[in-house]
Amino acid sequence: MKVAAIGDLHVTEDSVAPYRELFQEISRNADVLLLCGDLTNFGKTSEAEILAEDLRSCEVPVLGVLGNHDYECGQPENVASILHQAGMKVLDEQAFEIDGVGFAGVKGFIGGFGRGELAPFGEPEIKAFVDIAANEARKLENALRTIRTDRSVAVLHYAPITETLEGEPIEIFQYLGTQRLADAIDRFPHVRAVVHGHAHHGSYEGKTMRGTPVYNCAQFVVREKFGRPYALLEV
Ligand SMILES: [Fe+2]
Ligand SMILES: [Fe+2]
Repeated sequence: MKVAAIGDLHVTEDSVAPYRELFQEISRNADVLLLCGDLTNFGKTSEAEILAEDLRSCEVPVLGVLGNHDYECGQPENVASILHQAGMKVLDEQAFEIDGVGFAGVKGFIGGFGRGELAPFGEPEIKAFVDIAANEARKLENALRTIRTDRSVAVLHYAPITETLEGEPIEIFQYLGTQRLADAIDRFPHVRAVVHGHAHHGSYEGKTMRGTPVYNCAQFVVREKFGRPYALLEV
């Protein structure tokens, strides 16, 4: 299966059919399109409507997750609902299967990596914060556990590893993702690829501890590598 993936579309309300031609091109080159969050710039319904209109021109199945920008106006469920009505499967707790390949995804959260991972210790605010990251990882793990195919792809917005963050200032790595997501992924050998976005200045490729390939599909990263804004993976 040929899988196209793109993150960080950041659709603004003054844009005119910003992704229509690209989605048509992707429909010719891939069997499935994955969207890795930050689909809108500020999480406005007007931005989501513009993207929804373009999604209707996509002829292959579209699955994906929201990003932090899609939460900015405090109405991520409205953004998700508009995109869902345009045919996108918004991954959160439920996995999907298409032609023998499973797809599971969550937005993810921040929290850090390795020694820098924030622990649930001390103030209730810290515990609540860590609980959000742990809950995203738990949702991903639960969705991956329901997959019965021998191949799957995990879709995220935040990064699960630091390798695909290289290029970003090291001081902000802990705000770009959490290792808890990689820990969940590494429990399942059926995961053949992980796609994420969010790190606009990161690197394209990396691996989890267990060796699962991870791709930063933020459109700016992919464009720099391939001269087109979407990644193409064979799964
Ligand atoms: Fe972004
Ligand atoms: Fe983001």
